[in-house]
Amino acid sequence: MTARSYDAQSLKTAIAESAGLVDAALDAMLPQPSGRQARVQEAMRYAIQAGGKRLRPFLVLQSARLFGVPDARALCVGAAIEALHTYSLVHDDLPCMDDDDLRRGRPTTHIAFDEMTAVLAGDALLTIAFEFLAGAQTHANAEVRSALVLRLAQASGHVGMIGGQIIDMLADESFGIADVIGLQGKKTGQLFQFSCEAGPILGEASAEDRARLKAYAEEMGVVFQITDDLLDVTSTAEKTGKAVGKDAEMGKQTLVTLLGIEGARAEALRRAQAAVDALGPHAARAPQLAALPFYLLDRDS
Ligand code: IPE
Ligand code: IPE
Ligand code: MG
Ligand code: MG
Ligand code: MG
Repeated sequence: MTARSYDAQSLKTAIAESAGLVDAALDAMLPQPSGRQARVQEAMRYAIQAGGKRLRPFLVLQSARLFGVPDARALCVGAAIEALHTYSLVHDDLPCMDDDDLRRGRPTTHIAFDEMTAVLAGDALLTIAFEFLAGAQTHANAEVRSALVLRLAQASGHVGMIGGQIIDMLADESFGIADVIGLQGKKTGQLFQFSCEAGPILGEASAEDRARLKAYAEEMGVVFQITDDLLDVTSTAEKTGKAVGKDAEMGKQTLVTLLGIEGARAEALRRAQAAVDALGPHAARAPQLAALPFYLLDRDS
């Protein structure tokens, strides 16, 4: 199987444009440091403004445009998912979890500030995500806002990302392919699913369309995580902006350890095609969404 050809430059440009929009939204929506709580607000901004690929807000914007949702609304959801994702990274890097010093090319939040501030900044980024979703500017219909809050709570909580994080922290060498795919689907897949379902939720689209976007995200999440695990083996800290070689150091089973580099790449390619197939009729209407899984396969950061 060979990778489908796609216009990488046009996708790169679209991701950069979307990142510019979401960065401006985050800058406007995050609190300005002030008063006695300034330190935690500075740390929230530090963690977010370090950058990052902004893939989740890109998915929100793209899936929302597919259903005719104005960018101004989608950006509230994009800011929410980026705040929540950034919280997950701040906590993931803490000494009690992965104990990392480098993130997004900068010292991690607990190194730049201290552990106490990093825990609290993470907590505040988590809660502000729900504040963004619940705000009137996200959607005129309170039922739509409530559906977004519910979906993000499920995606990020004990059966979603946090469920995946605890399975990951407690995983051992006995983990097989199905175990790894299951844990990664929770740890990283769920936030991608929320991002892709956000468009149909905001656009009040049919259940069928929502299911298509969800199925796309499920497959795309596996592609993303396989490439994260590949980069941990094949890339450098300069390129990824975070430590590499961590999975081996921590004795983690990944699809790369279980299938080998070539086997993992082949599985990612199969999943990328499955993601596009899941989009059905939307693949032609959303070329950037259709190209993204293949672009992720080629990424080096
Ligand atoms: C990193 O996510 C954490 C995982 C889910 C593997 P990203 O690779 O999207 O991180 P940023 O947002 O670009 O820093
Ligand atoms: C982190 O997974 C995923 C979450 C924070 C939910 P990893 O530990 O693999 O992420 P990196 O490699 O540190 O970015
Ligand atoms: Mg981790
Ligand atoms: Mg980590
Ligand atoms: Mg990783």
